[in-house]
Amino acid sequence: MTVEKRKLEHIDIISSQNVSHDYNYWDDIDIIQKSMPEVDYDEIDTSTSFLGKKLRLPILISSMTGGHPDTKKINENLAIAAAESGIAMGVGSERAAIQNRTVGDSYSIVTEYDVPFRIANIGAPQLIKQGKNALTDDEIRYAVELIEGDALAVHFNFVQELSQPEGDRNSKGIKKRIGELSKKYKTIAKETGAGFSVQDSLEFKQLGVSAIDTGGRSGTSFAAVESIRSRNRSDEQKERVGTTYWNWGIPSPMSLMFANVELPVIASGGIRTGLDVFRGLSMGATLGGLASTFLKAALKSDKDVTDLVLQLETELKTAMFLTGCSSLKDIKKVRKVYRGRLLEWMNQT
Ligand SMILES: Cc1cc2nc3c(=O)[nH]c(=O)nc-3n(C[C@H](O)[C@H](O)[C@H](O)COP(=O)(O)O)c2cc1C
Repeated sequence: MTVEKRKLEHIDIISSQNVSHDYNYWDDIDIIQKSMPEVDYDEIDTSTSFLGKKLRLPILISSMTGGHPDTKKINENLAIAAAESGIAMGVGSERAAIQNRTVGDSYSIVTEYDVPFRIANIGAPQLIKQGKNALTDDEIRYAVELIEGDALAVHFNFVQELSQPEGDRNSKGIKKRIGELSKKYKTIAKETGAGFSVQDSLEFKQLGVSAIDTGGRSGTSFAAVESIRSRNRSDEQKERVGTTYWNWGIPSPMSLMFANVELPVIASGGIRTGLDVFRGLSMGATLGGLASTFLKAALKSDKDVTDLVLQLETELKTAMFLTGCSSLKDIKKVRKVYRGRLLEWMNQT
């Protein structure tokens, strides 16, 4: 199966079926509010900066797509909205364009709009030799330049790779390559739903990455996606691997706490609302990243995406108002109560 075709299957499955982890740990964070917040809602400032660029809101459209002609419109809708709303966006894995440059425009369409921060994307498994050769330095430069990237996200998705029949299964040498890339690009180490440990985050810092996108368990499960793909192909063995690992991983808020290594951090994995973005920021994140929530809007129109950003903004500002925060830096001081399964994790790690 080609990478291009697989990308379409992912979009189809994620937009039409429930492939979430069974528990959303962001719900285990209650915020202590103030009945006398002493804030004027209309003066609330949501602007921030991320790796040297100004954003109007602390929101990222997480890496999703590109690589098939049908995905060009999705990236265009996202880019129009990101430019209009002043938020950051990533494109999906650019391996498809590296292998077949004729689909490059499904990614480079994002350069036609004034997106304040663009993130290129490649997979960590492709940085090293698998059955096939690793990506070369020239190919990686092509991926960054194709979208005029401000940073390069390297995504870690080994649960997914091991749940798919055609998946990569070598990880030896990955740290050395991350270190090399971090010297050339603003590199973002990005998980895609299984979260990072404290050890991972400390190592990323030592390797010189510029930021960590913590993507843990709470939202889209790629083991679940692969399980459904395998079921559709009647591959019972792989279907079962995907089902077994459906809920694998470090919860998103834990992954965020583990990334407390004095680097900019993106909270992601199961962020659905402006309140979830607020929860992430209150725990030290610079941005909140959403993928599947944006996908559904992007399949409709750029206006649907812009409306969604407005919705997230309203929800974020509501939480800011109710906790007496007139700017994002105040959010880190907000008091919280952790409970449920998140508290179990906190008590044992
Ligand atoms: C349709 C779709 C495609 C994705 N493709 C990529 C990808 O190519 N590269 C990547 O780093 N992450 C990819 N992701 C993962 C997201 O960036 C994000 O880490 C993950 O979905 C968790 O966020 P969510 O719970 O808000 O969906 C994809 C997600 C979706 C929904």
